Amino acid sequence: MAPPSPALFLCFLGLAAVGTMAAPPRKPINVPFNKNYVPTWAFDHIKYFNGGNDIQLHLDNYTGTGFQSRGSYLFGHFSMQIKMVGGDSAGTVTAFYLSSQNSEHDEIDFEFLGNRTGQPYILQTNVFTGGKGDREQRIYLWFDPTKGYHYYSILWNLYQIVFFVDDVPIRVFKNSKELGVRFPFDQPMKLYSSLWNADDWATRGGLEKTNWANAPFVASYRGFHIDGCESSANAKFCETQGKRWWDQKEFRDLDGFQYRRLQWVRNKWTIYNYCTDRKRYPAMPKECAKDRDI
Ligand SMILES: *[C@@H]1O[C@H](CO)[C@@H](O)[C@H](O)[C@H]1NC(C)=O
Ligand SMILES: *[C@@H]1O[C@H](CO)[C@@H](O)[C@H](O)[C@H]1NC(C)=O
Repeated sequence: MAPPSPALFLCFLGLAAVGTMAAPPRKPINVPFNKNYVPTWAFDHIKYFNGGNDIQLHLDNYTGTGFQSRGSYLFGHFSMQIKMVGGDSAGTVTAFYLSSQNSEHDEIDFEFLGNRTGQPYILQTNVFTGGKGDREQRIYLWFDPTKGYHYYSILWNLYQIVFFVDDVPIRVFKNSKELGVRFPFDQPMKLYSSLWNADDWATRGGLEKTNWANAPFVASYRGFHIDGCESSANAKFCETQGKRWWDQKEFRDLDGFQYRRLQWVRNKWTIYNYCTDRKRYPAMPKECAKDRDI
């Protein structure tokens, strides 16, 4: 099942759409892991290949592992190519996220929840601003994420945060300051990734346990380029703000084609959305309508 194609969309809208297309984020180039990242914990559970252009994270019954960016960033486009743990990955979680280091922290999360062989992964996303999260969304993917590398990326500027899977926007978090919703804008963030055991909650709510007979569990990574405004962890603004490609007009909102793809993800692949959870939120959170989550 492929996402809607640009060709189909142009037929649908007519040629009028051509002038209004937003640009897809730039494709990152591949650089070795060490250029931009360092291991965070369990260094011996990270394996390097091809001069460090490819790495693997290993999880066994002793430990998981993780890595983080050397630099801190205020805005940019942050992307990683990942091939998820294959086979029986139930109980494992692979995460890729941006996080600030302060107490009122900001965080932008991708979490991939493994499953028994042949059963679908779940991709959970969340956004924390000023220490407040509780904005989970969960989707199934339209491909098997264990069969090959896919791009998972975050576009972050003063106007919006967009989660992309390959070129498909699966979630938008707009700057809704005018609605009283905090938006990350003054705390630099680092990138992190990790693979760990979470069989107390990850798969079917914790019913499916990790089968350690299958260890080690392996997630593969490549594409370690970072396109962001690097700043010290305490900086309040980015010197080149407004001048970089991700600040430009075509990245301040999604275009019609991208919104149509987001709608496709909502209609066909979304299994949980905090915006529609009336038990949890009797009143819909303020940002939901603007983010087109409903
Ligand atoms: C971990 O796995 C190894 C290899 O399967 C096994 O020998 C060892 O007993 C296990 N350790 C624990 C603490 O379960
Ligand atoms: C795992 O598979 C089951 C059965 O198909 C499904 O209900 C569940 O959503 C899948 N994913 C996770 C992470 O639990």
